Amino acid sequence: MIKVSLISLGCAKNLVDSEIMVGHLHQAGMAVIPEAENADVVIVNTCSFIDSSKEESIGHILDVHRERGMTKRRKHQKLIVAGCMSQRFSKDLKSELHDEVDAFIGLDQVTKVAPIINEIFAKDRGKDEAPPVFIEGRSTYIPDYNTPRFRLTPKHFAYVKIAEGCNHPCTFCIIPQIRGRHRSRTVESVVAEARQLVKEGVKELNLISQDTTFFGMDTWDERPSPRTPVDSSRGTALTTLLRELNAIEGDFWIRLLYTHPAHWSDELIRTIAECPKVARYIDIPLQHISDHMLGLMQRETSSAYIRDLIRRIRAGIPGITVRTTFIVGFPGETEADVDELCAFIKEAKFERLGVFRYSQEEGTRAAKMAEQLSPKLKEARWHRVMKLQREIAAEVSGRAVGKKLRVLVEEPGVARAEGDAPDIDGRVYVPITVPVGAFAEVKITGCEDYDLLALPVGQAPATRKVAKQAQ
Ligand code: F3S
Repeated sequence: MIKVSLISLGCAKNLVDSEIMVGHLHQAGMAVIPEAENADVVIVNTCSFIDSSKEESIGHILDVHRERGMTKRRKHQKLIVAGCMSQRFSKDLKSELHDEVDAFIGLDQVTKVAPIINEIFAKDRGKDEAPPVFIEGRSTYIPDYNTPRFRLTPKHFAYVKIAEGCNHPCTFCIIPQIRGRHRSRTVESVVAEARQLVKEGVKELNLISQDTTFFGMDTWDERPSPRTPVDSSRGTALTTLLRELNAIEGDFWIRLLYTHPAHWSDELIRTIAECPKVARYIDIPLQHISDHMLGLMQRETSSAYIRDLIRRIRAGIPGITVRTTFIVGFPGETEADVDELCAFIKEAKFERLGVFRYSQEEGTRAAKMAEQLSPKLKEARWHRVMKLQREIAAEVSGRAVGKKLRVLVEEPGVARAEGDAPDIDGRVYVPITVPVGAFAEVKITGCEDYDLLALPVGQAPATRKVAKQAQ
């Protein structure tokens, strides 16, 4: 039996691709094992978002290659590079990693990984022959509810990829060139998958895609622009899906990740407010607030639009936790732009906020712009915004003290609230014996940075020590 080990890098979308690969390997009778040293094949599922992700991916490839050279048993081990970096750069990489890699596969080959492995073993590559590239043109694949898949997340939460690809023209981003044009799954397909997951005991469905707000719009008769608001009167929309998911029986959260501000509408705000299973949490990357920057980034939004949208979201969905991201150090960014950004952050008081230093990505329009800023300046601006957000985060956490929250227990002594997405947000430390993967009610007794300390409802206040001991 062929044994395969897989290293999954990058975001949740890549993780779902890894899960599909593992599902197909199992279906083909191959064993998937955690230890690379005992595997016949190692797959590195790469990320290519920014330079540091590429470096990390290359680092893993070189490590696997070096280690397989160290033992006799691993001499015949095959190394396959998959994922976003492979999809985008395999033409260059096949000569650069001629000796290290045995094959490159792309995003559309996740379901064909088993026959590709058999093919690699069947054909011995000549010494001068470049590693084969099993990638055909632009990515168009989208999984269905019955696609074989083996979940790699803990039992109680799952990522559900509702669409793939992106039609937005953001000048800094390479992902549309990697993942192709937006294509949505059908509502029926997503609902069938969600039903199955809830039946298996999943308590949190995290809806993901490049732009979840554009869900269904690619199927409309009249082609929407990248600014069209979510509107179910024109065809299938995210609101249609949310209402259907909300109607599935069971106790679970639906979490909306990766929404684009340009498509938000009052209908979407109303739908979230009216669907109790949809978490009071939104992930809405804004990237900047100054019109100067939003224009250069081609974000299809404006400062006035964003300010009004955040106001409408907060008014329409009481208790909402808003997560956003900003980019600092984009070409041409001035001190006045950063001042405006800081003033906006102070005013909007986002509960969750991430800041990226702009990364000049080959193949993007922003990479060719004049006025690229120095790494030192980007770093200084990043520190300025992060310092400000740390103060706001402390204030936000402080406001939670004394409140009762419903949490989902992640591991013994560690839980997550409705306002905390897996992997990216904070944690609630609570000494309870509620089983992992179950909901519990807790009272917040203190906070530390981005995390909260709590007790099960009905106990005396905990100290940090008590809460830590429970971990
Ligand atoms: Fe995700 Fe990295 Fe690809 S962030 S979409 S794995 S480039």
